Order: sequence, then structure tokens, then C-alpha cells
Amino acid sequence: MSSSPLLTPERAVTVIGLGPMGRALAGAFVAAGVRTTVWNRTPGRDRELLAQGAIGASSAAEAVAASPLTVVCLVNYDASDAVLRQEAVASALKGRTLVNLTADTPGRARDTGRWADAHGIRYLDGAIMTPTPTIGTPHAVLIHSGPGELYREHRPVLDALGGTHTHLGEDVGRAAAYDIALLDIFWTSMAGYVHALAVAGAEGISPRELAPFAQGIGAILPPLFQEWAEDVESGGYSGEGNPLTSAVSSMTHIVHTSEAHGIDAGVLRAAEGLARRTVGLGHGTDGFSRIAEVLGRR
Ligand SMILES: NC(=O)c1ccc[n+]([C@@H]2O[C@H](COP(=O)([O-])OP(=O)(O)OC[C@H]3O[C@@H](n4cnc5c(N)ncnc54)[C@H](OP(=O)(O)O)[C@@H]3O)[C@@H](O)[C@H]2O)c1
Repeated sequence: MSSSPLLTPERAVTVIGLGPMGRALAGAFVAAGVRTTVWNRTPGRDRELLAQGAIGASSAAEAVAASPLTVVCLVNYDASDAVLRQEAVASALKGRTLVNLTADTPGRARDTGRWADAHGIRYLDGAIMTPTPTIGTPHAVLIHSGPGELYREHRPVLDALGGTHTHLGEDVGRAAAYDIALLDIFWTSMAGYVHALAVAGAEGISPRELAPFAQGIGAILPPLFQEWAEDVESGGYSGEGNPLTSAVSSMTHIVHTSEAHGIDAGVLRAAEGLARRTVGLGHGTDGFSRIAEVLGRR
């Protein structure tokens, strides 16, 4: 057990789930001197944490009963339901606070919020936007949603996770909604990068040769995120300097080059299809951001 002077009974947390992220969260709590009880479905994943001062529990119910605050971090909400909705766990959670940092859909977060309300469990949802090495450092980024009062009450313990915490509002699904939108950017970009590595490889360009140029392309994106946000908010969609018709032409070249090498171009074909549809609706002189408005039409 840590001998930090910050260690008081109020500064106690239970962490359910000791995958890579759960271990990082529990490790940061222990390092900050918070009394940390841990539990994981598969035994043995707590070994290092116990050596650092965490307390092992023999069941999830025993774990949640050990602290006023439980943080859950599992693969998805099927897993978190499987653990939390056991009768013994739900009744041990009654009157305590549950912070679910498991990633899933906004709908699952709201459903868990309703279940928690019905069982007298104080509930906050959240998402972790940065990888495990950032946890407990200034580089961690966590978002939260649910009752603001509850968030403020537990913020001193959650601060042990380091970095930036943002409370996004009272709707418990809002953190998951941000997470989904942000992961949409991440996975679409990752799909583009692995595809580019394959196409470049087929053209005799090694991944190491491409990488510095890829970073240059990445650097173009942040100002565009802001500019297109303004476009979509204002309905401006200016295509000055880069109209959609030109974007379609550029995308077609990538599809043709990929397919000439027998490389699946399905992801880009889908994006090109959206751009063509938007041009077909009469928006060829608008910018790429117009697609967001077309996609959102009901
Ligand atoms: N790793 C990252 O860099 C990162 C970054 C941001 C967000 N996240 C999010 O953090 C969450 C946890 O991620 P992770 O990296 O720790 O690994 P993970 O593989 O997503 O989750 C592993 C955890 O889920 C548990 N689990 C899986 N199925 C279960 C079930 N049916 N019942 C009970 N427990 C179950 C595992 O228990 P067992 O050990 O028993 O299998 C383990 O504790 C995910 O939602 C992930 O999206 C992760």
C-alpha cells in the first residue's frame, strides 16, 4: 500500500476491468495515493498492481463494496452489463457512484444510465480519448457526461488520472456521442493510411519513404477541421480554391491506381460515391464540407 499523505478513506476507488486501459487507470490511482481496489474477470491480471499497493477483491460485488466510487473499463457494454447487472453487484452499487469509461454507443450509455437510476446507483458515463501511456500524465484526455454535481463531487479522485477532463453535459450519452464522432475521424483516417501504404508499396514506395510525406498531409487537417466546422455551422460550404468536382477527379485517380494493382478500393469508392452524389445534387462548386449536410438530410 502506498504511504502517500493523500491517502484518506474518502480517496478510495474500485477499478473493474484490468485490460491494458484498466491497468493504466488503476496504476494511476495507486500512484496518486488513492486506495484502489481492483477486480478482473480473468484472475492474475492484477499481479503488478497488487505489488504496487492495490487491493485485490475476490468478486466484483466485493470490489464495488470497497469504495464509494467504482470505475469500469471493459471491452464494451455487453461485458459491463455481464458484470454490473448481476444482482449482488447491482445491490452493492446501490447509493454508490459508478463511472463507466467503457467505450460503446450513446444508446448503450443512456440505457445503462436508466438501469442505474432504477437501481439507485449514481451514474456517470465517460470515454478515454488517449492511449494507455498517457494515463496519469498531463497528456491524458477524458470526457464525462451525466449529473454535473456528481462529476464535481468525484473530480478530485478522477484527477489522479491526469490530463484534461471535460464534463460535456447532463445527458449521460453525450460523452459516448463525442467518442463515436471522434473515433469516426480516427478509424476513417487509419483506413486511409493503411490503404495508402498498400498503394504506395505496389508503386515501389516503401512505408518509411512515404511516412514523412504522410505526416505532412496529416498536418493539413487540423485547420480544415475548424474551417469546415464553420462551413457546416454557417451553411457556407465555400468551394473556392477546391470545388467538389475537383475532389471527385482526384479521388477517381486513387481508385483507378488501386484497382490497377488489384488493391481493394472499397473505402475510397464509398467516399467518392458520396462526393459524386453531392455533385449530382447541384453542389459541384461547393467545398467538400457540403457532403456533411447532404449526409445529414432526412
Ligand atoms: N487501450 C487503449 O489505448 C484505449 C484507449 C482509449 C479507450 N480505450 C477503451 O477502454 C476500454 C478497455 O480497453 P482495454 O485496452 O483495456 O482492452 P479491451 O480488450 O478493450 O478490454 C479488456 C477488458 O474487458 C474485459 N472483458 C471482455 N469481455 C468481458 C466479459 N464478457 N465479461 C467481463 N469482462 C470482460 C477483459 O477481461 P478479461 O481479462 O477477463 O478478458 C478485460 O478486463 C475499451 O472500451 C476501449 O475502447 C482503450
